[in-house]
Amino acid sequence: MHLSKVAVVGLGYVGLSLACALASRGFEVVGLDKDYEKVMMIKRGLTPIYEEGLDKLLRKSLDDGSLKLIYDYEEAVERSNLCFICVGTPSKPDGSVDLSYVEDASRMIGRSLRNRRGYYLVVIRSTVPPGTTINVVKRIIEEESGKSLGDYGLCFNPEFLREGEALQDIFNPDRIIIGCLDETSGEALLNFYRSFHGDSMPPVLVTTPTNAELIKYANNAFLAMKISFINMISQLCQNLPGADVKVVANGIGMDRRIGREFLNAGLGWGGSCFPKDVMGLLRFGESIGVKLPLIEATIEVNEAQIIGAIKLAEKLVGDLRGKNIAVLGLAFKPGTDDVRESRSIKLVEKLLEYGAKVRVHDPRALEKAREILREKVSYASSIEECLSGTDLCILATEWSEYKVLKQEMLEKLMKNPALLDCRRLYDPKEFERIKFAAIGLGPPNSSQ
Ligand SMILES: NC(=O)c1ccc[n+]([C@@H]2O[C@H](COP(=O)([O-])OP(=O)(O)OC[C@H]3O[C@@H](n4cnc5c(N)ncnc54)[C@H](O)[C@@H]3O)[C@@H](O)[C@H]2O)c1
Repeated sequence: MHLSKVAVVGLGYVGLSLACALASRGFEVVGLDKDYEKVMMIKRGLTPIYEEGLDKLLRKSLDDGSLKLIYDYEEAVERSNLCFICVGTPSKPDGSVDLSYVEDASRMIGRSLRNRRGYYLVVIRSTVPPGTTINVVKRIIEEESGKSLGDYGLCFNPEFLREGEALQDIFNPDRIIIGCLDETSGEALLNFYRSFHGDSMPPVLVTTPTNAELIKYANNAFLAMKISFINMISQLCQNLPGADVKVVANGIGMDRRIGREFLNAGLGWGGSCFPKDVMGLLRFGESIGVKLPLIEATIEVNEAQIIGAIKLAEKLVGDLRGKNIAVLGLAFKPGTDDVRESRSIKLVEKLLEYGAKVRVHDPRALEKAREILREKVSYASSIEECLSGTDLCILATEWSEYKVLKQEMLEKLMKNPALLDCRRLYDPKEFERIKFAAIGLGPPNSSQ
């Protein structure tokens, strides 16, 4: 079966990147979102998110007609023979997963399938807890459409893209995981990917939807655990004369069984996925009576990193009350303007709680950060403006723009030059004249 007309439902980081990537490879794509303003904005060629190369790809796809933006489910289903559901799955207040957007989208797709002829494949791309595809999505689609599996197809196909590298990850994923209930659905999606990737088809694992759903959660939890592990070691290093977590990470990362990635000590893991997925897995375990102690510890270490950074700031400049502090970087990582669950914002909030006056800067995320921090901080449009007259500079997100920071610059602009490196961007040797501290860097060893 060859399916080439695609509907992408939910045009956020995942959906918009996927829609543009598919359109650029010759698929006929319709993009749909329930947010009318967003649809109109994208239709004008404007991307609501910052993602390298996405704006160009979007305008190209709109110009050559390969991507159409619509606001109507019936039309989206009519114009396609396969849809990817990429709507959000945020956390509920208790940390469990809010499936209401997935349920709404399934209901609307199911309803639109009622009078549609021919095979149609529904693919869940949103991250959902194990059992959702079978127990929730399938039930809703069948109730609304009056069809049963076979007349339509259903797969769970997790997305592993990294924000900031979304397009590169869609074009070159490490692997494709297909969770399907029947062979026809799995084969149809596999064929679709064969035509998308051509000769550079990545490795594929075909399994049940439940396994595929768990793979996604376990994957994110493992990566978060790796970060928490090195952050735990960073706390050790900070209290160990002559120790440096960066060197320790390099050393253990040379072991091929471990690898160097996700071993960067810092403020911890944040962003739109890790916090909600790690907590979602913990709550899912509880819901079926299974305790997950490693996940609990992963969260505990992550929380401790912010307080750890505050303690380092106090070591440098004493009581934070009334101190003017410049915070560089607010996005949850470089390369994106996403500030959801950003550790930098959490740090800013903690600094405010301790009575500091905070001025912030970010090359891309200032606008989105303003929606959270509002009038509580002041905003600088340049690094120089951010540093000017301050008592402490904290590097919170490691944008390459911040590599220009030099000792002389801090001495010239700051009232009391002091630098706290929370992302290990700087060489301590280059800041020897000023007060300097970094996460995971022990005090100097007098015998060295
Ligand atoms: N952002 C990432 O890096 C990433 C990576 C892998 C997986 N995921 C997963 O992919 C899913 C989407 O993530 P995202 O970051 O793109 O979310 P997002 O919040 O950026 O976008 C979701 C979009 O879905 C739209 N939407 C919600 N309900 C809808 C409905 N019923 N019909 C149509 N549109 C609807 C929203 O308006 C929004 O534009 C989540 O489950 C997430 O966990 C995200």
